[in-house]
Amino acid sequence: MAHISPTSPQSLSAHASKGLNGHVRLPGDKSISHRALIFGALAVGETRITGLLEGEDVLATADAMRRLGADVIRHGTGDWSVFGVGVGGLHEPSQPLDFGNSGTGARLVMGLVAGHPITATFVGDESLSRRPMGRVITPLTQMGAVFHAREGGRLPLTLTGARQTLAMRYVSPVASAQVKSAILLAGLNAAGQTSVIEKTPTRDHTERMLRAFGAEISTEIDADGTMSVTLTGQPELHPCPVIVPGDPSSAAFPVVAALITPGSDILVQGVMMNPHRAGLYKTLMEMGGDIEILNQREEGGEPVADLRVRSSALTGIDVPPARAASMIDEYPVLAVAAAFATGETRMLGIHELRVKESDRIAATAAGLRANGIKLRELEDGMIVEGRAGEVDGGGHVVTQMDHRIAMSFLVMGLASAMPVRVDDGRMIATSFPEFVPLMQGLGGHIA
Ligand code: S3P
Repeated sequence: MAHISPTSPQSLSAHASKGLNGHVRLPGDKSISHRALIFGALAVGETRITGLLEGEDVLATADAMRRLGADVIRHGTGDWSVFGVGVGGLHEPSQPLDFGNSGTGARLVMGLVAGHPITATFVGDESLSRRPMGRVITPLTQMGAVFHAREGGRLPLTLTGARQTLAMRYVSPVASAQVKSAILLAGLNAAGQTSVIEKTPTRDHTERMLRAFGAEISTEIDADGTMSVTLTGQPELHPCPVIVPGDPSSAAFPVVAALITPGSDILVQGVMMNPHRAGLYKTLMEMGGDIEILNQREEGGEPVADLRVRSSALTGIDVPPARAASMIDEYPVLAVAAAFATGETRMLGIHELRVKESDRIAATAAGLRANGIKLRELEDGMIVEGRAGEVDGGGHVVTQMDHRIAMSFLVMGLASAMPVRVDDGRMIATSFPEFVPLMQGLGGHIA
């Protein structure tokens, strides 16, 4: 990998800012954007999507849908149409499918291809090529797909889908919506019922969208919280307009920035508040964050609200491990909030963070230490010692090809005594291309 010096053109630095003010609208939710394109490709006719996130991860999925036979058209910003081929109607792509940095795109499309008698090769960038695919290879193989992957189940891999996909009941060993979704996508082309059982329920966008597109799908939750999702295979999916709500995982950055930067008062509009995604907001409020949830409504089948956020004195807490799935992408920025809190914040039961775009426990710990924060790193979490608003900063953070590490530490720099520099801001474009101008528009000093 090319060496990136602290002053390379890709590096960004954030400086102490006076207070963030104003209102902002977030880009569309990444999880829903991927799924809108994928389900659009499986419905016969036109699926109109508004508010699609035009980040690199989602654009890679749009490209994959084209290569698999759907017509995908961009009318204007966030305004797209997908003309699908129907369940069972995908074409064999003549070129590898390149998912860039996106685990969601790669794993969901593996499920899609596994249910079709076609062969496709999956590739991605260095970060994605390190991530484990065994978690989808195992169940999809049981459904009849054949994989040839690199050592340890890594990309690049070639997958030949099943001639006759086998329906299955799968108890998922990992709390992963990507695994659940891959199995359900393969199950679409199986005769009979496919069930996925999750001890810790994960985000339910696949289930909601399948239902909206006309599939028969039921969800049951046991007394102990175990969730079973059952899909009846071979439905005819009908196009359904998709309005993509604002991404709560992207909203996390301006929200934490406003909480830790004295003199801030911002309004973040149209944030999706699906309970499987809103864990960070609950946690920040428990830490004493002044977050008002306003104008609660439903948009595109998802609960949505506006968030008014004012700077707050935060207190460290024990984050319940059971909440991890509902805020899995938000721990790096929560760790930044924890650095500004009074007392310790304990974040445990988050081993999954080690297999995200980077090892997020290691990358967050290194970034915190570089900025003068003490913490204990554990195999499945970290305990951060807060500095009661007095964070030194001055660190140089290695982003490890991880957009959320880059954005989290830029947020830290807005409220720390000395600037915080991240070595490479390019990955921010995978999920939140407008991040820098949006933060600057609120008064954040990022150069
Ligand atoms: C996603 C699920 C999560 C999350 C990712 C998006 C999805 O991954 O980290 O950013 O859209 O299904 P896991 O389900 O593997 O935890």
